[in-house]
Amino acid sequence: MTVHQDLRRPDASTDAVPDLDETTRRPGTTAEWWRSAVIYQIYPRSFSDSSGDGIGDLPGITARLGALDALGVDAIWLSPFMTSPQKDAGYDVTDYCDVDPIFGTLSDFDALLARAHSLGIRVIVDLVPNHSSDQHEWFQQALTAAPGSPERARYIFREGKGPEGQEPPNNWQSIFGGPAWTRITEADGTPGQWYLHLFDSSQPDFDWSQEEVKQEFRRILRFWLDRGVDGFRVDVAHGLVKDQDFPDYTPDADAASMGGEATPAPYFEQSAVHEVYRDWRLVLEEYAGDRALCGEAWVSSVEKAALWVRPDEMHQTFNFQYLEASWDAQQLRGVINDSLRAFTAVGAPSTWVLSNHDVVRHATRLALTGENPQGTGIGPDYPGLPDRETGLARARAATALMLALPGSAYIYQGEELGLDEVHDLPDEARQDPTWFRTAGERYGRDGCRVPLPWAADADDFGFTAGGTPWLPQPERWRGLARDVQQADPDSTLSLYRRMLSLRSEHDLGLGELNWLGGRSEQVLMFSNQDVVVLANTGTSSVPLPTGHEVLLASSALEGDEVPGDCTVWLRRHAG
Ligand code: GLC
Repeated sequence: MTVHQDLRRPDASTDAVPDLDETTRRPGTTAEWWRSAVIYQIYPRSFSDSSGDGIGDLPGITARLGALDALGVDAIWLSPFMTSPQKDAGYDVTDYCDVDPIFGTLSDFDALLARAHSLGIRVIVDLVPNHSSDQHEWFQQALTAAPGSPERARYIFREGKGPEGQEPPNNWQSIFGGPAWTRITEADGTPGQWYLHLFDSSQPDFDWSQEEVKQEFRRILRFWLDRGVDGFRVDVAHGLVKDQDFPDYTPDADAASMGGEATPAPYFEQSAVHEVYRDWRLVLEEYAGDRALCGEAWVSSVEKAALWVRPDEMHQTFNFQYLEASWDAQQLRGVINDSLRAFTAVGAPSTWVLSNHDVVRHATRLALTGENPQGTGIGPDYPGLPDRETGLARARAATALMLALPGSAYIYQGEELGLDEVHDLPDEARQDPTWFRTAGERYGRDGCRVPLPWAADADDFGFTAGGTPWLPQPERWRGLARDVQQADPDSTLSLYRRMLSLRSEHDLGLGELNWLGGRSEQVLMFSNQDVVVLANTGTSSVPLPTGHEVLLASSALEGDEVPGDCTVWLRRHAG
């Protein structure tokens, strides 16, 4: 018997809320639900506000879970709602085992989980292990403790360079802009050591070579697993371990990025980081109920991404190569092939994703004509803003392609409404630390985080019970409100519902992709189970294959022609 089996807690999953068993699981999903699940990302502060403070909250989510049930998702991923000063919208945690008062209480979380499980929807929560908030008890203790103390050892404190230690220990830049080191003042008032923060100065990085840090995160995992969560999305999963020599490093591009350089930065993709997830996998396996880990690791190839999902590591990792591909048949074909090959080789499902809270919404991004490095965002002055119609047509077609692929797919809240990026937010409304740390040079990610429109005729489109939304919603979203789209069979929402229902009916998530050739360079065509998919990424129309019934089309067909920027799902006529 291995050590982790000794630690097994047989009843842990049944303590607080019902686990998802065969009777509540959505039809067609297997025990290893994460292999094929459609997972809907909720960004809690922008989903639905029940308290009236203008910021979304957990009871707001619980009250609206029916809408996600109707949409047909298998699981939700909640971006962080733990106690936090919200310097980086919750990705700066002070207490990993409690709920921030702006989002509610632990009982509110339990109620959300119970309601989701009663609907057959699994719940994964966001875990932020690379860094804490500077308000975290440990960091506050580190500030008052002496250099070299065990309190400092939990974070990455170093002496500065130069005769007075006045220069940072190396040249690393923060992903959000500016230096990645901040100097502290020691308890006696003298200028002191420097601490590392790959992100904002309010987000000090933990030192993952320390056993105490490892133990603490095992405790945090068990806290949420005991409450009944189905898994974790792991923030900056490629960043926890740093090259212990702390060599200088200058990224290829001007701005520091989340990763993905061919030669990784000395703070990303260090091989020892995988030990952390092997250890976590053992923790998850102490529990019944098929819990899963999904890594956020920005790396340069799907082969590298597959390193995170080897059999003894995580279950899933985000496929950012897919997200970063252009709306171009040849590019997409390449990344789909590479992904299926690389993930299958390690026995893991590929994931697919087009939008999240860090990137320009794909209803805008897929029609941008200029450069748009990840995390930079776009503002009112962006050259070549796309027309919305093209953006939306491409987004619908791209999602119809994505949801027909075997594996697990992620949907970001609002994309089912066809929401575009709010590039025209007033400067004074912006809140992303990127905006402040680059003195407005990079807009950051606020444009994809604007609160959802629920009801066209309600104040603030029904997002908040009386407050002022934390980011202003554009008037143009009135026509995109959920209630308007619900009643319209041609709406983006109706398309998403149909796609999810057909995907489940035909078991596409567990199917196999077979390319069907013979079409033009601008077309992708394949079969998965008994469904034939044709995606036309070009601008001119192509003939619809004969002898097929049309199951769905992402935009109106032109007689027997599939227009440009359109994906269709077909089924062969019997006989
Ligand atoms: C991840 C999150 C992002 C956050 C950063 C720092 O990339 O997705 O929103 O700002 O990590 O935690």
